[in-house]
This record gives sequence, structure tokens and C-alpha cells, in this order.
Amino acid sequence: MGEPALFGPDFDRDPSPAYTWLRERPPHRLEFPNGVAAWLITRYDDALVALDHPALLKSPFAGNEEWQRAEMGLPLDHRPSLATNMINTDPPDHTRLRRACAGAFAPRRMAKLRERTQRVTDSLLDVVEARGHGDLVTELAYPLPIAIICDLLGVPESYREAVHEWSLVIDSADDSDGSKVREATDALERLVTEVVDVKRAEPDTDLVSDLVAQQAEGLLNADEVTSTAFLILIGGHETTVGLIATGALALLTHPDEAGRARRDPAHRAAVIEETLRLHAPLQNATWRFPAEDVEIGGRLMRPGDPILVSVLAANRDPAAFTDPDEFRPGQRSGDRRHVAFGAGPHLCIGAALARLQADVTFETVLRRLPTARLSVPEEELTWWPSPITRGLFHLPIEL
Ligand code: HEM
Repeated sequence: MGEPALFGPDFDRDPSPAYTWLRERPPHRLEFPNGVAAWLITRYDDALVALDHPALLKSPFAGNEEWQRAEMGLPLDHRPSLATNMINTDPPDHTRLRRACAGAFAPRRMAKLRERTQRVTDSLLDVVEARGHGDLVTELAYPLPIAIICDLLGVPESYREAVHEWSLVIDSADDSDGSKVREATDALERLVTEVVDVKRAEPDTDLVSDLVAQQAEGLLNADEVTSTAFLILIGGHETTVGLIATGALALLTHPDEAGRARRDPAHRAAVIEETLRLHAPLQNATWRFPAEDVEIGGRLMRPGDPILVSVLAANRDPAAFTDPDEFRPGQRSGDRRHVAFGAGPHLCIGAALARLQADVTFETVLRRLPTARLSVPEEELTWWPSPITRGLFHLPIEL
């Protein structure tokens, strides 16, 4: 087999052959169509080292000239008003920006979000149940996370439809020249700025109000407030859609596991972890750049070299997991070694919220729609055409 394609429908449906090839040649030097060369880390042990390496920086300014000139990543990575957030920074700024969000993920607020997740899930499933068929992606996996993130941030009701619409554009890979993504980014930037103004005038118990209060105390600047709100809005949406979609598919295609998960919350938790391991909704962690010469997996990486860690490839490394391409929640129960949420200082801040939403949706679907089955053959399902995120466009079911 020659160098496999890391994109295309075959890769989207089953990325394993490509990742197996890459893991045998670690870390692999990739060349992007725009000429930028980058390292792709695919082995589990190397992934753990890279994700937690003190000399690998997250600041886009640490990237080499070639990478910076090509403006890789989304336009939001290159605007101070959107990019000055924790995922693009290193200590001490990273620590400060991450701490600024701590209140939003505190247990009391999580408990409120669980109640809200249950209410939204129930009302979305009312429609599917009454109709006797539906689509668990467009009618559940997409609308739920956006409603919950808007709650967490405190986005007023009147803005939510626009948030949904524009984030769908940013999430869609169908944008060859990038102009639609730029337009959607502009619209969301205006929207986030307006929400910040609303909360400055009328503070509440939500994340944007927390950020505005910290700005008033001099702990954050204006770019950090808008960038943080923007990161949470984008970072927590499509990833959670992917988790709910792929987990629901796993339950529909493994009736024994579904039966156990219906009766046993611990097994439901194992299903969620196994879905995260097997599908890693964010296939690749975000860019990293060595501050100095760094050796990983026996390869020398020079300062500024762009590095991607494929958490999906790491999660399917046979050196770390037996039968890694199989869905085996029972066998791996209690094993949370997968790196679907990353590792080290940038470990996903929203992991508990994502798990909570998956738990509520799976419990509710299994309880309320016990006869649900896929209404098309599994081979006809279309996977997102993206080497970055992993999920499904539709999951049609009938009762
Ligand atoms: C299944 C759902 C999710 C997956 C698979 C996921 C995955 C990840 C991964 C792999 C990282 C690390 C990136 C890196 O090191 O380069 C990350 C970071 C992050 N995630 Fe998530 N995420 C999910 C849900 C969420 C949610 C619900 C939120 C917010 C409500 C969120 C907000 C963030 C933020 C802010 C960071 C940056 C943390 C930092 O830099 O310290 N994510 N996520």
C-alpha cells in the first residue's frame, strides 16, 4: 500500500487502514496541498508525550514562517478578537484564561445544565415519537448542544437561531474558497460582541457575565472576553454532535449493548467512553509547535515545525488497546485512557458537559424509543467529509 489518502469517503467511513499505515511510520511528515509540511503523530505513547510536552507551544505565533504565511486553520485563528483564548495560548496566559471559565463548569451550574439537557431532549424527542420516525442527527444531535452552549454562555433566546445557522456554516467542510466560513465568522463575531454588551448592561449567572465581570476587575482584556466566548461556542458544538451521532449509531447497531445500557447506568458510561475512543469526534488535536529541538518517536522536530496529534489514530493503536477497531464497551468498562479529549494542560474543559449530554440523550432515547431501529442500511449513512471532525450527517430511524 502506498501513502493512503487522509480524506475522501473511504477514509471518512473507515479511517483505520490509513491510520494503521501511518502508525507503522511514526511520526509521519505530511505535506499539505498548499506546500506546508507538518508532523502527524499517530501512536498512543507519542500522543501522550506530545499533548503534555512543556516545549510544544500552542500559540500560533510559535509556528514557522511557512505555516504562518499559509494562515492554516480557521480564519478565527488569525483575529485577535477571536483567537486570544486558552487553546491558542501557553502558561501563564493559558492558566489565567482557563481559570476565568472555572465557574461555568462548577458542579452547581452543571446540575442546572443537566436539568435543561433533559428538558430539551424530551421536547426534541416528543416530535420524533409522535411522528413514529425521525433523524437522530438533525433532530437531536445538532439542536441539543447548541441550546446547551447558549445556556452556558447566556446567549439570549433571540440570538439562538442565528448562532445555529452560522455555526453550521463554520462546521461545514463544503466551502472550497473559505468565503462562506469568513462570512459566518464575521456574523458570529458581531453576535458575540452584542451578547457581551447585553451582559455588560444586565449581568446574569452565565459564562459571558463571568467574563465581563473579570474584565471589569482588570483580569481579562476585551479580546480575551470575545475570544473565550467564541471558542466555547464553536468548540463545544460539532464535537458533541459527533459524540451523540456516533454513540446513537453504535447503540442502534449493537442491540445487546443497548439493552444493557438501558438497564445499567455504568454500562451507559462505558458506551460513551468506548464511542469517544473509537470515533474521537475531534480526530486531530489542534496545532502545536516546538519552542526548541524536540525528539518524539525517534524523530527530531525543529523549532516552529507544525505538529498535529491524531487522537483518533492514538485511540486505535493496538499497542495500547486490544482489538482497537472493535466496539467493546463491556470489555473496556472503567478504562478512560483514550485521548479523545486530549491530555495535559489543554485537556478539554467541556468534557464533563459533553459526557452529561451523551448520558442524558442515550438514557432518554433508550427509555422512550425502545423500538427504534435504523431505517436505512448502515452502509448508506454518510460521514462528515472532514479529516478534523468525525460524525454523521443523518441517522434516520423508525419506531
Ligand atoms: C465530545 C465532545 C468533545 C470533544 C471530543 C472535545 C475534544 C477536545 C480536545 C481533543 C481538546 C484538546 C485540544 C488540543 O489539545 O489541541 C479540547 C479542548 C477544548 N475543548 Fe473540547 N471537546 C468536546 C466538547 C467540548 C465542549 C462541550 C466544550 C465547551 C462547552 C469544549 C471546549 C473546549 C475548550 C475551551 C478547549 C481548550 C482547552 C484548553 O486549551 O485548555 N469542548 N476538546
